[in-house]
Amino acid sequence: MLKAICEIDSIPEDGCQAIELKQLALFAVKKRKQTFIYINRCPHMHVPLNWEPNKFLNNSGDLIQCSTHGALFNIETGECLQGPCLGQSLQAIAHEVKDGKICIKESDLSKQ
Ligand code: FES
Repeated sequence: MLKAICEIDSIPEDGCQAIELKQLALFAVKKRKQTFIYINRCPHMHVPLNWEPNKFLNNSGDLIQCSTHGALFNIETGECLQGPCLGQSLQAIAHEVKDGKICIKESDLSKQ
């Protein structure tokens, strides 16, 4: 079963947005019309990546950045490219877009 989690148009182009679900904190990044969704948890200390609402990218907007110790992650793959969790990755959530909504598998909602 798929569950709609947000409108695709609510995510700014080349920007990002938190998606707070009851079971799981996610965020979405749109880059060159592609959307990537990850669990909002840094692999370093398992804390949320952002301190400010909807701020997940570095200043140049080309990498995901953890607010706690500054780890940088590739937007497309979630891999840490620099920082204390080098070589580890954010946990990606597979999704599809249906009728303008981003949908994920209900079974992914139990991912921790
Ligand atoms: S908690 Fe994210 S880099 Fe340390």
